[in-house]
Amino acid sequence: MGLFFSLLANLFKKCDDKPLPIESIFKLPSPIPKFPPGDGFATGVIDLGGLQVCQISTFNKIWSALEGGPDNKGATFYEPSSIPDGFFMLGCYSQPNNRPLFGWILAAKTVTNNSFSSHSSLAKPTDYSLIWSSESKKIKQDGGNCYIWLPTPPEGYKPVGYLVTNSPEKPSVEKIRCVQSEFADAIEVDGWIWGLDKKINTNNINMYEIRPKDRGVNALSVSTGSFVVQNVGATADVSLVYCLKNTKNNLMAMPNLSQVEALIQAYSPVIYFHPDEAYFPSSVDWFFQNGALLYEKGKESEPRPIQPDGSNLPQGGSNDDLYWLDLPKDDSSKERVKKGDLAHSCAYFHIKPMFGATFTDIPLWIFYPFNGPARAKVGIFNVSLGKIGEHVGDWEHLTLRVSNYNGELKSVYFSEHSGGQMIDASDIEFENGNKPVAYSSLHGHAFYSKPGLVLQGSGSIGIRNDASKGKMMMDTGITPMVVAAEYLGQVVVEPMWLNYSRKWGPKISYDITNEIKKVRNVLPKLLRGPFDKFVRGLPNELLGEEGPTGPKMKNNWSGDEKY
Ligand SMILES: *[C@@H]1O[C@H](CO)[C@@H](O)[C@H](O)[C@H]1NC(C)=O
Ligand SMILES: *[C@@H]1O[C@H](CO)[C@@H](O)[C@H](O)[C@H]1NC(C)=O
Ligand SMILES: *[C@@H]1O[C@H](CO)[C@@H](O)[C@H](O)[C@H]1NC(C)=O
Ligand SMILES: *[C@@H]1O[C@H](CO)[C@@H](O)[C@H](O)[C@H]1NC(C)=O
Ligand SMILES: *[C@@H]1O[C@H](CO)[C@@H](O)[C@H](O)[C@H]1NC(C)=O
Repeated sequence: MGLFFSLLANLFKKCDDKPLPIESIFKLPSPIPKFPPGDGFATGVIDLGGLQVCQISTFNKIWSALEGGPDNKGATFYEPSSIPDGFFMLGCYSQPNNRPLFGWILAAKTVTNNSFSSHSSLAKPTDYSLIWSSESKKIKQDGGNCYIWLPTPPEGYKPVGYLVTNSPEKPSVEKIRCVQSEFADAIEVDGWIWGLDKKINTNNINMYEIRPKDRGVNALSVSTGSFVVQNVGATADVSLVYCLKNTKNNLMAMPNLSQVEALIQAYSPVIYFHPDEAYFPSSVDWFFQNGALLYEKGKESEPRPIQPDGSNLPQGGSNDDLYWLDLPKDDSSKERVKKGDLAHSCAYFHIKPMFGATFTDIPLWIFYPFNGPARAKVGIFNVSLGKIGEHVGDWEHLTLRVSNYNGELKSVYFSEHSGGQMIDASDIEFENGNKPVAYSSLHGHAFYSKPGLVLQGSGSIGIRNDASKGKMMMDTGITPMVVAAEYLGQVVVEPMWLNYSRKWGPKISYDITNEIKKVRNVLPKLLRGPFDKFVRGLPNELLGEEGPTGPKMKNNWSGDEKY
């Protein structure tokens, strides 16, 4: 009877439910561009110093949970398929069902002239331990039962992934390989893939995406696309599986400048501004040439104009308030410069290695001469916050994360005030081929991947971030400028303004207490208490205490954006 009912339930489910997002495979709208010739970029295989790796994104489905995980939509396990000759599986892939299938996992091949020893860089496991199975668990599932196995490595080797099967029998040791310890590095837990509600989640697991613990332009750890399993109640044991390591510390897979230009042409984002936006971007030299001034502490009465290339800006040092920039003094120039000049705007690109140079991160920086005043939502009211939120000199950025195996755009980071979000390509809007769309929020210029209102605050009171597709837009690929690519040596000369480490605007000049009082006085009495509480919780950046520093001083010039 039980079986009959569950079949019946399944039948109804199949008729009623829309297909799960994961049932479709995400592909970028246009093919990956053909890149000009270079060295090791987008050649399919990367050599980590005696261990070659390639990215596999063709899968055979093993098992799905149809509940639990993000949005309670479950998760699916896959085994990589169509692995090229000579390469071996290192582990299975898994992802939540609430987004289209868009994943990859590394496979590896040993090269005989290994730099460490005469031993092979890969070895079969000696055994497996069963980590978890869905047997006798009351889970809505698809594909029989699920068994998750951790390979037992021979001495001197480490496992970099799990094997997932439908059978309680131990899999063959031929299925998978472990890597020599020299190629293994520490991981940490990233996004949640799957787990069940605590009430029914006894003797169950949580699964997480993993990422290298050590990340940044000089870090050697390599992402594998794998996951980690954690028993509920225990803390995630990140010592069970490892990521890989680029032992050669080579930059062979990084794009050279012609390939960088092709990447920019293919993936340069399109930025939309809100219909009510009054403060647009400009190029840095437009800002300098239209009257921006350099102030020095102690000599406030003698500000100096700035050379178009920024060559008279102080270099290096720290953000110590000895110098700052400001708008021109006379009111009409000031108001004109505040508005920026979209026609003379420019996106400034920084190119940097990530994950042991198996990925390229491309932050692109946009300069706005002025950040407009903040607006709040208090109950049903739109409340102007007076001058609060205003500042001169506003730097914002988006970061493209590109695979060096094949040149595919994998995700985009959207900077939002002092933080931001890394968003999968499968969850981004594209235009004109593979150009990601970003929305710049009204006045504050935070970047969002979707139009709409994002409220910073709690309940019905917060700072409004309104994003909408207005008529004004910026195609960042029209006048791109590569301003830094340290890994290319002297090929890219950094502009002088990039090495200016002080603030691009003065400390705020208005009286915050006064501004807050003005707003409070026009609110209905009932809302004043909640408003006071809200004001106490306002972030420093909004109260003007955080200075508008340049790209090099921001989070995160040489690290991973997502930390
Ligand atoms: C990129 O590499 C290719 C092959 O080595 C070379 O022909 C080309 O000139 C390089 N381009 C740049 C800008 O260095
Ligand atoms: C191994 O030898 C080949 C051919 O001699 C060479 O091209 C390759 O760079 C070597 N690999 C390593 C890791 O030294
Ligand atoms: C930045 O300025 C400092 C101090 O003058 C200098 O040591 C450094 O080389 C400069 N960096 C660049 C990239 O110009
Ligand atoms: C508040 O502002 C938003 C965005 O400008 C607008 O869409 C909305 O209609 C306004 N609400 C009220 C009550 O004025
Ligand atoms: C930059 O990111 C790294 C991790 O990648 C983090 O440890 C560091 O604190 C970040 N730096 C700043 C200035 O936020």
